Amino acid sequence: MKASRRLLLRTAGGSAVLLAGSAFGLSRCDRMPASAVAGWQGPAPDVDDPRIRALSWAMLAPSPHNMQSWIAAIDQAESIALHVDTTRLLPETDPFGRQTVIGQGTFLELLEIAAREDGYRCEIALYPDGGDDALSVVDRPVARVAFVRDPDVPKDPLFAQIPHRRSTKEPYNLDRRPEDTVLTALAQAHVDGGIDLQMTGNPAVVETLMDLTRRAVMIEIETPRTLQESIDVLRIGADEIAANPDGIELHGPMFWWMHRLGVMTREKAVTPGTMAYQGGIDYAAGWASATPAFGWLTTAGNARADQIAAGRAYVRLNLKAAELGLAMHPVSQLLQEYPEMADMQRAFLAAIGTPPGHTVQMLFRLGYADPVGPSPRRPVDAIVRG
Ligand SMILES: Cc1cc2nc3c(=O)[nH]c(=O)nc-3n(C[C@H](O)[C@H](O)[C@H](O)COP(=O)(O)O)c2cc1C
Repeated sequence: MKASRRLLLRTAGGSAVLLAGSAFGLSRCDRMPASAVAGWQGPAPDVDDPRIRALSWAMLAPSPHNMQSWIAAIDQAESIALHVDTTRLLPETDPFGRQTVIGQGTFLELLEIAAREDGYRCEIALYPDGGDDALSVVDRPVARVAFVRDPDVPKDPLFAQIPHRRSTKEPYNLDRRPEDTVLTALAQAHVDGGIDLQMTGNPAVVETLMDLTRRAVMIEIETPRTLQESIDVLRIGADEIAANPDGIELHGPMFWWMHRLGVMTREKAVTPGTMAYQGGIDYAAGWASATPAFGWLTTAGNARADQIAAGRAYVRLNLKAAELGLAMHPVSQLLQEYPEMADMQRAFLAAIGTPPGHTVQMLFRLGYADPVGPSPRRPVDAIVRG
């Protein structure tokens, strides 16, 4: 997350010190470290193992809180066993691992698209050793992926968008609602597979969803353990991002100054009444109120296979959005399964007419916004086990 000038003015109330920072050219300090985004160039040119090449692209998948909870075991020839990295879970906001498993789906989709680009067909067996318990994530392979050389395998044009895909966590232009033709073009990337895709720019529905989203964000912030979970994975400033290229990153001159002045610390970020705590609220209110359209993906069941399919479907839409110049941003608070959110979730499901028992797997904002840079990634070696 890069501090925008708008955020700076709002949270700092026009603080002379912070504004002086930009005036003296400090807006150039605290840039995203190059090492943290090197992965967006794709595999190194000397990598010829097709699995590592495809994994290098798959690392660029979206994941909740950018936790990148993937382990790829390459101990058998020509195949990968994908596991959840169970040291990288979010038990407070994702108590059943549903979102983490969606993040396995986003990864598998990019893996397959990238393998095709190199002329390999992926044969994917989900949960080959069982372990697809819907209530907890266990350390058994999510998928075994065989790489089969196949010169006839069709390439996917969405491959070209992998380096350009973003989660754009910023206010969107309210004067430009995504046109129906654009939403129709976006929907062309959707492979049904039992997943219902809905999108709306209807002002009344959007207003309701903005309101519910704002209130859900406040519940997350005002519930100490769910807020703490985010704060625990905050990376404040370039040095922390370089050391841990994952989690929720804050960089740019405003954060640099706030951190240096002791205004932005982990302790302050969880303490009501501080500028750091209020800044988090203002930031979320800013984007939540500037949303011209929403979309969501719903499944009838909520088995691990449904969640993986939803992740695959989501990232295809996210790639297509990049192609169309549309900004997209998952907003998951309303979908989360902890008790304090239950009433709000019921209100949300009723507002969008979700059939009883069905599960909204992804809710996302859609619109137009200034381009944002790529988010940090660990190097591919961090997830590969030989
Ligand atoms: C299942 C899932 C849920 C997500 N929920 C949220 C969310 O509630 N809020 C948010 O800002 N981003 C959310 N994201 C997006 C991630 O934060 C994002 O993918 C990550 O920070 C990496 O950024 P990138 O997608 O731009 O590469 C979610 C992603 C996934 C896969």
